[in-house]
Amino acid sequence: MVHYKDLGLVNTREMFKKAISGGYAIPAYNFNNMEQLQAIITACIDTQSPVILQVSKGARNYANQTLLRYMAEGALRVVNDSGKPIPVALHLDHGDSYELCISCIESGFSSVMIDGSSLPYEDNTALTKKVADYAHKHDVTVEGELGVLAGIEEEVSSEVSHYTNPDDVEDFVKRTNVDSLAISIGTSHGAYKFKPGEKVPPLKFDILKEIENRIPGFPIVLHGSSSVLQEYVGMINQYGGSMQGAVGVPEDQLREAAKSAVCKINIDSDGRLVMTAMIRKSLADNPENFDPRKYLGPAREELIKMYARKNREVLGSAGKA
Ligand code: G3H
Ligand code: 13P
Ligand code: ZN
Repeated sequence: MVHYKDLGLVNTREMFKKAISGGYAIPAYNFNNMEQLQAIITACIDTQSPVILQVSKGARNYANQTLLRYMAEGALRVVNDSGKPIPVALHLDHGDSYELCISCIESGFSSVMIDGSSLPYEDNTALTKKVADYAHKHDVTVEGELGVLAGIEEEVSSEVSHYTNPDDVEDFVKRTNVDSLAISIGTSHGAYKFKPGEKVPPLKFDILKEIENRIPGFPIVLHGSSSVLQEYVGMINQYGGSMQGAVGVPEDQLREAAKSAVCKINIDSDGRLVMTAMIRKSLADNPENFDPRKYLGPAREELIKMYARKNREVLGSAGKA
């Protein structure tokens, strides 16, 4: 067993406490490859933002779980060598089993999500409690989820949102002993969150408020929070892609949410869009190029800008390291 503290990682407890009292949210950015990871840590060092590095089950399968874990350790070294240290948590995104959560904890993750949101309530509660009991023995923090987001949640696909029922949250938090709770208030995963032209699709701030009333000061997590930046969707379509009707969560609504008990905001798709747009453009502009560094490099530069701007303008986490 490798303990995350020996790697210099932190769990999310302190981060969330400060984020709630400071009215901002911690960025939780997913990575699957080196360029994404480099961009995330560079942007967070540059903006002096705490960060949660997120690894999904799919990312572990894609990149190899051992390699990904060592990449995170390498990233931490880079952070420390920068002379401008920031708090970094390594988090399992959408863990779907007790065994997967344990495997991550034993390999040095400082935080795990156990996503039992598609299970019946009592089963979700029992599974989440089982993970929390184990994780807390190692001072690893645990995120649970209540309510189902529309779109694809790993292998679970849902056509519609099932908003979190505020009547459930107090009981769930008490019985499971989770450290944070992911809720469903209208966000969804992927690049097609709302219908194009739909009147500004509002997050259900009334449900968020009611949840806050039931569990005051408890850390809330928003998944599916990419804004599906139209600049990059446009570039993808311009350079041979086809992403018609891709729409995300307006950034001003995320900013608003970040001022509340929402203290972790998950963003993956926006990074995917930036990378794809830049690679498509670079290859179209330089058809003779066959050196991956020459199209991955510009993609990485643009990712840094995008993450840094999110920290400054959307999450409010810049300068909070
Ligand atoms: O919420 C899901 C994340 O965007 C991770 O996606 O399972 O395709 O790696 P993934
Ligand atoms: P997006 O697809 O909106 O980026 O959501 C990512 C996410 O929730 C990761 O858990
Ligand atoms: Zn998610």
